[in-house]
Amino acid sequence: MKNKMENGYDKLIHCYECVKKQVDFTPKIALVLGSGLGDYADGIQVEAELQYSDIEGFPVSTVAGHEGKYIFGYVKEVPVVCMKGRVHYYEGYDISDVVLPIRLMKLMGAEVLFLTNASGGINPSFRAGDFMLIKDQIANFVPSPLIGANIEELGVRFPDMSDIYDRELQNVIKKTAALLDIPLQEGVYIQLTGPNYESPAEVRMCRTLGADAVGMSTACEAIAANHMGMKICGISCISNMGCGISATPLSHAEVQATADRVAPLFKKLVTEVIQNIAERKGD
Ligand code: HPA
Repeated sequence: MKNKMENGYDKLIHCYECVKKQVDFTPKIALVLGSGLGDYADGIQVEAELQYSDIEGFPVSTVAGHEGKYIFGYVKEVPVVCMKGRVHYYEGYDISDVVLPIRLMKLMGAEVLFLTNASGGINPSFRAGDFMLIKDQIANFVPSPLIGANIEELGVRFPDMSDIYDRELQNVIKKTAALLDIPLQEGVYIQLTGPNYESPAEVRMCRTLGADAVGMSTACEAIAANHMGMKICGISCISNMGCGISATPLSHAEVQATADRVAPLFKKLVTEVIQNIAERKGD
């Protein structure tokens, strides 16, 4: 039986105290930058940065090119904390460590979680370079980050999952994309463990299960954030079509190249969405 310590609460609080000692900033929105959005931070009025390696006990990414730090600052007038680089389950971390950074941002004060990622398109009407509003998710191929003794301080044992991706925030994203004239697909995101890409049969399986895009992150983070009562929204950049749909073999370089190509548009969308989320009535 795992106890509370093993389930990560003491570690989380230790990380939180470590952050508080180094940074005095209260974010409103937490933003996770997926592949291609890595340099988004260049457009932020940065107030502070904190390397993950300067937070005791924090999981540090091992993927080449996945620089890891929190960036605190303002997007327009909105106080945000950005994760530049996230930890993936395929790196070998316990799933509770994979979601620790998300939980930490909620403790810092962020009530909204904005998730971005790069994914493979499974819906045959999608094209590489499309953006997809995440409406729902399938996370059953990775362990739930809530397995183990429940951390009562964070949330309930059996959290409801009917509206993981907040409907109001989905509408903000749809309206923002329409105003900017940026085409937006919608769909269900499925998280697999990776790090290998899917076989054609696995892509067909994902489609049969009702998914529109496949990736290796995000859904477990959304589960942890939903458990803590955060409002969640997400946009996926379809960096390639899933294996078997596209005729060419997949490579990380292709994924990165597409993400880089559409990055300017993605950044514009993310910036406007953040502003519009902050300006919602009643917030
Ligand atoms: N599969 C899984 N993860 C991904 C893909 C893919 O095709 N593209 C980008 N991340």
